[in-house]
Amino acid sequence: MKPGTKRTLVTAALPYANGPIHLGHLAGAYLPADIYCRQQRLTGRDLVFVCGSDEHGVPILLRARKEGVDPQVIVDRYHKMIQEAFASFGMSFDFYGRTTDPLHRETSQDFFRVLAKKKTFTLKTDSQLYDPKAGIFLADRFIRGTCPNCSYEEAYGDQCEKCGRSLSPDDLLNPYSALSDAAPVVKETTHWYLPLGHFQERLTQWIDGHGDWKPNVLGQIQSWLTDGLGDRAVTRDLPWGVPVPQDVAEEAGVDAEGKVLYVWFDAPIGYISATRRWAEAQGDPELWKQFWCSEESQLIHFIGKDNIVFHCLIFPTMLMAHGDFILPDNVPANEFLNLEGEKLSTSRGWAVWLHEYLEEMPADYLRYALAATFPETRDTDFSWKDYQARVNNELADTLGNLVNRTLTFADRYFEGKVPPLSHPSSKDLGLLDRLREIPSRVGELLETYKMREALAEIMGLAREGNRFFNEQKPWATRKEDLRACGNTIHISLQLVASLSILLDPFLPASCASLRAMLNLRGLRNSALREDKEALLFWEDAGRPLLEAGHSLGQAGILFQKVEDAYVEAQRKKLKAAPIQGGSGVQVDPNQVPEFRELIEFEDFQKLDLRVGEVLEAEKVKKSKKLIRCLVDLGREKRQILAGVAESLGPEDLIGKKVIVVANLKARKMLGLESQGMILMAERPDGSLGPLGAEGPAGAVVR
Ligand code: 2FM
Ligand code: ZN
Repeated sequence: MKPGTKRTLVTAALPYANGPIHLGHLAGAYLPADIYCRQQRLTGRDLVFVCGSDEHGVPILLRARKEGVDPQVIVDRYHKMIQEAFASFGMSFDFYGRTTDPLHRETSQDFFRVLAKKKTFTLKTDSQLYDPKAGIFLADRFIRGTCPNCSYEEAYGDQCEKCGRSLSPDDLLNPYSALSDAAPVVKETTHWYLPLGHFQERLTQWIDGHGDWKPNVLGQIQSWLTDGLGDRAVTRDLPWGVPVPQDVAEEAGVDAEGKVLYVWFDAPIGYISATRRWAEAQGDPELWKQFWCSEESQLIHFIGKDNIVFHCLIFPTMLMAHGDFILPDNVPANEFLNLEGEKLSTSRGWAVWLHEYLEEMPADYLRYALAATFPETRDTDFSWKDYQARVNNELADTLGNLVNRTLTFADRYFEGKVPPLSHPSSKDLGLLDRLREIPSRVGELLETYKMREALAEIMGLAREGNRFFNEQKPWATRKEDLRACGNTIHISLQLVASLSILLDPFLPASCASLRAMLNLRGLRNSALREDKEALLFWEDAGRPLLEAGHSLGQAGILFQKVEDAYVEAQRKKLKAAPIQGGSGVQVDPNQVPEFRELIEFEDFQKLDLRVGEVLEAEKVKKSKKLIRCLVDLGREKRQILAGVAESLGPEDLIGKKVIVVANLKARKMLGLESQGMILMAERPDGSLGPLGAEGPAGAVVR
């Protein structure tokens, strides 16, 4: 914590409102931020936590065009979806805003205006590609054409999705506009640039004062600084975004029509506008300034590593140039989370979506499994097997067991009350001593963003509790030495009570249930800025909290075990994701099988490939591999047996469009006729996934 500060403003990266939240997002920014905020609130720190949807940018516009709707429709859809999923996940935002909010527009325009007045920007005119038919300048993503490297005909102006090569629009052969198919023409346009180079010295000095930042963050910043900072365009020619303020454009002699702020200019200002909205909701519209404009406040940005340059160099430059705001005190960026050994990919469907997860399983199980494997210093992997092991062995068998056996004992043999501690043994006292030091130790780990270690420390305490219980054998002392038995239960109850505070930032819902079981009241609410009724705080977890004679509540099961069937179903669901290449997929060339011998074109022409729609699918009885599908090929429906049951379930195929070899002679398998073949792609591990196809059933594929 920055010494001398009274308040903290925490932000988590604003997610783009063009898709749902997945596990990678949670592990990168959101869950660490939430854990941090909850713990800080428990200490009594005055803290505000803001986030919101990032609703501008080219991908949203492209998506809207593809669906033939207004971009507002897209962002409304995902904003709602994201906000609801976050709430069910237990994210304790004080405010969750959105960048299409008019107050955000005003805040961003004011910010831009101040920088323009201070002559921070440079204005530059250069030639860019323009779509004469759609009447707009084309962002790199809007230009498509043939890749000079692999001849893929639908490469983007910034990257070829097929071979992964980075491109610039000039590299493309036969460029065309993704919006209208028109050939782009070169046209001049003027834009505002932020000259980062002018700030390089100040930035370097400022960063030098933050040697305590995470090494992965400092490393990236250093390499940007070493390369030298150049000018960054902060406006774009686009029909979607915060408009460039009319007065600023006029002053500069530029036509503002069709010009908007670059999404990465307005998005971080979203943190400010969200805080303003929050202040309004508190009935004190000026309150936000205590967080943004005062040296008594510290600012912390939680982000994933792909956002480091924006939060550590560009936004700070904007803030320095503006002058009214404080700079971030820390930017604890996490690395990436992989999924089942592969890079997460939303385009490939290799992702676990939060809203889908929450339909089946409690938030806390996921919060726990993720926190235990946060990619704090390097990329880590999430696997469903590991998730299951964490929930079953650690939550259920360690924590749940300690809680359960302690409460059951108290209930059965001590009338549901806390037995007194009388003539405690050195072991009894030893455990209480141990407890005393935990809150500050764990607090320090959390304040320095070592959340995995913090969690391990707390779970170590739960393990010690079980060991203590085993060694003290209350089931035996109950008959021989009721006083000693009472002491064991007394100490174990105190431990459990402390755990219900220490784990609260990680497992808020379970800890609330646990406190109800203990009938422990008065803990400060970890989700709210203010809690007038609070009697207990973080540090209180270090001392015995339950008095002798205190009546306990109703005991219950805190954690259910995760079944193998659930794990299998989740893994299958992933494997069912269509394999479409996608961008940025790391392929190990050694794992790609060699190509077969060449064939004549005539050989290829013999294949009749068609788009088919799977209408029905069911497992073939007595077969481990076969799934019987009914596939619509337009002219007729065919029964096709697919040998994929080890990788996919019928539910993964029903409704899917697939590619079918339509002229393969019928074959009998297990007494059933297969009238064709569905093409599948094989992953390096040998599992199969259907090749996604588009187009009407029966369409010829060639
Ligand atoms: O990378 C992203 O998902 C961006 N939408 C993050 C924006 S963070 C902030 F600046 F708003
Ligand atoms: Zn290519």
